[in-house]
Amino acid sequence: MKIRPRRNRKSEAIRALIRETIVTPDDLIAPLFVLSGKGIKDPISSMPGQFRFSVDLLIVEVKQLYSLGIKCISLFPAIDEHLKDSWAKESTNPDGLYPRAIRAIKEACPDMVVMTDVAMDPYSSDGHDGFVDPKTGEIVNDPTLEILASMAITQAQAGSDIIGPSDMMDGRVGFIRSALDQESFEGVSIMSYSSKYASSFYGPFREALDSAPKSGDKKTYQMDYANSREAIREALLDEKEGADILMVKPGLPYLDIIAKLREVSNLPIAAYNVSGEYAMIKAASEKGWLDGEKCMVEMLTSFKRAGCDMIITYFAGEMARLTS
Ligand code: PBG
Repeated sequence: MKIRPRRNRKSEAIRALIRETIVTPDDLIAPLFVLSGKGIKDPISSMPGQFRFSVDLLIVEVKQLYSLGIKCISLFPAIDEHLKDSWAKESTNPDGLYPRAIRAIKEACPDMVVMTDVAMDPYSSDGHDGFVDPKTGEIVNDPTLEILASMAITQAQAGSDIIGPSDMMDGRVGFIRSALDQESFEGVSIMSYSSKYASSFYGPFREALDSAPKSGDKKTYQMDYANSREAIREALLDEKEGADILMVKPGLPYLDIIAKLREVSNLPIAAYNVSGEYAMIKAASEKGWLDGEKCMVEMLTSFKRAGCDMIITYFAGEMARLTS
């Protein structure tokens, strides 16, 4: 035999030379949950190691992540039930929990890149990402765009660096881009949740925010997981509308979509390694069925190998700690 591929695997030093992909803290974005109150660090039962923080303790966590090399966080608010309504009015309150948290982070840790989520669900009494027509029960697209744009502006005013529309309404990237530009926020980026599937892997996240839809499901706006061409169509539309970064969500069961998108777009691509993917590894690891740490590294590496530039992951802190 002249050709022996095993020669390139014969020692760790050789394997390190050969290695095509490596995950560093530079690639990672940490999702964080904020709630109202003081001195609260409330564990999320289905996501061991993840918490809902009040603003004062959120800042402590952000600083710690930054010291570990994590330079971007994605923030999600758990809004008190009595502040929710059909129009998500609280989402445009400049003194609401979310803008206050954004301002506090930027004050305490100015170099941390703050990504914020644009969708109605955390604020909506209906638990949907868009506006629910009270007569028909349908999630109506165009009236939602106005609400999303005001929400994005409120977040930009508070200091958000990256707006992340996660709602999957048609035309929202272009609509939000124009609205931001009109308010002189042309420097604020958009990371579009461009190919977001209607997935059961979001379960623990909805528990964390108590944001599950009150009726029906999200299948008229989030995509059917049986489709891949549709994901590319959605992503290329967002690119045309002005997205700076595209995203595939969930991550692990959708590596094929990431790889396909990498071939057709030159924009940076993010994967969202969602709550259910985190919970699976944590649960199996707690039972002693998997080596959680090794599975974490293998899984995060697979995203980069598939073609991602960055990964939004609840493992960000743990991974950074491991590599530092
Ligand atoms: C809501 C939103 C969801 C997630 C991020 N933004 C849930 C949903 O669409 O129902 C899920 C993230 C996760 O599961 O980690 N707009």
